[in-house]
Amino acid sequence: MRQKPREQWGTRAGFLMAAVGSAVGLGNIWRFPYIAYDNGGGAFLLPYLIALLTAGIPLLILEYSIGHRYRSSAPLSYRRIWRPAEAIGWWQVAICFIIAIYYGAIIAWSASYVWFSTTQAWGEDPDGFFFGDYLQMSEGPGGVTGYVPAVAWPIIGVWAVVLVILALGVRNGIEKATKIFIPLLVVLFLILVVQALTLDGATTGLNALFTPDWGAMLNGGVWVAAYGQIFFSLSIGFGIMVTYASYLKRKADLTGSAMVAGFANSSFELLAGIGVFAALGFMATAAGTAVDEVATSGIGLAFIAFPQIISTLPFGGSLFGVLFFGSLVIAGLTSLISIVQVVISAVQDRTGMGRLQAVLLVGGLIALVSTLLFPTHQGLHYLDVFDHFINQYGIVLAALAMLIAFGWILRRLPMFQEHANKASSIRLGTWWRITLGIITPILLGFMMWDSLRTELTENYAGYPTGFLLSAGWGVAIGALVFGVIMALLPWKRADTISRDDAARTRTEGGTPEQLQDPGQVTPDSDQTTRKEGDQ
Ligand code: ALA
Repeated sequence: MRQKPREQWGTRAGFLMAAVGSAVGLGNIWRFPYIAYDNGGGAFLLPYLIALLTAGIPLLILEYSIGHRYRSSAPLSYRRIWRPAEAIGWWQVAICFIIAIYYGAIIAWSASYVWFSTTQAWGEDPDGFFFGDYLQMSEGPGGVTGYVPAVAWPIIGVWAVVLVILALGVRNGIEKATKIFIPLLVVLFLILVVQALTLDGATTGLNALFTPDWGAMLNGGVWVAAYGQIFFSLSIGFGIMVTYASYLKRKADLTGSAMVAGFANSSFELLAGIGVFAALGFMATAAGTAVDEVATSGIGLAFIAFPQIISTLPFGGSLFGVLFFGSLVIAGLTSLISIVQVVISAVQDRTGMGRLQAVLLVGGLIALVSTLLFPTHQGLHYLDVFDHFINQYGIVLAALAMLIAFGWILRRLPMFQEHANKASSIRLGTWWRITLGIITPILLGFMMWDSLRTELTENYAGYPTGFLLSAGWGVAIGALVFGVIMALLPWKRADTISRDDAARTRTEGGTPEQLQDPGQVTPDSDQTTRKEGDQ
């Protein structure tokens, strides 16, 4: 049976918008401002910029090149480069599965808070409202008990939106949705930042954020934080960019696109830093405390500090809340769509399933797990531990494994450099190979060692060891084991792929090595892509 031609982005702008939509997410709004503040303020911007230039953009180019060259999901692309590397692809698929289930829950909480903002439903006690009234969180993790329908309904709503967009396909679903969501996000967020900047005390917050502590640059932890932020924020190491680039047309400006996506993401991150710290400066001034008393990140910033700020505002509090939580919902949705797409495209490539069937089965399964687990009284504990372990020992380790496999073992960086240079506006030089072949793997290795050292000396967030072994280490190691098992299982479409490759090799005069490394000519790209215009 002949495969349908692979889906494609309609325009270059559509692809760029989707790539930026994937990158700009919860990490930009609630993680960057605090990480920057906590790691030297203005001085952090230098390690951050170096991390962007030496790891973020180079890795983005590598992922784009792999996806564009092999025109398939992460596992199939890696398999085509080197069979054992397929395990890394399935590992990334498992990582995306775990991230998707909790990322969906956070977007759902934010959606609830858009509504709560209109009446400032948290009253005098945002802390008690969030953990007690809304989540009904249990004291400790323990077994799963009790179910909170008020948390479940928004989760169902979020998943309905995500699955409908995904079912509509790459061009009609993801591309069209991001073309609406991203401009909307920029407008909402700009209004929010302008409103924040007009508040009393805004400059106090900005001074706290940007006053440089140059001494921090001598601290290895600051560099680790900069690289960690760039990874999560740019969505690299998840397999997302490999997947998205696999839908590009044949002639694509890979390096130019990576630069645009990288700098657009960082610009949004800086804007978020300004907005969040202006608001925190206002709150600190109103409470007569220092900014460090109120500065926090993640769930504490969004669901406790921001409601406090909203309640303290003399006027326009509800609007401020709607803008802030609305921005979280939109930024989160475009990232979640890209995360789930990694899993869907991998399953489609593996089984030959149609999009709708894959969305219903795979997307449905992710939605079901998310809806069953996170509205329980223990939901937040699971979310916290999944997030910590899968980020620390999933994304970064998978990226390191990619660099070791493709850069060190196979020595394929020159080949990808040549591929990226073919139709790109900015030519890659030796610097690109040096950053990916030497600097980034060494830094990632150091990051791993550094966080493992802390992890093994103290229990993360004081959770009981049994819980960390099952929900933390168990899930992180489980994702890797899943990758290895999937790569060992027989590949249903293997015959089709080899037949197509062999046929192509005959007609295009390739070498036997191209059976493993079919490059730009894949079963799905066939003749249709050749006739397409530039992108
Ligand atoms: N890049 C996405 C974020 O920042 C995952 O949240």
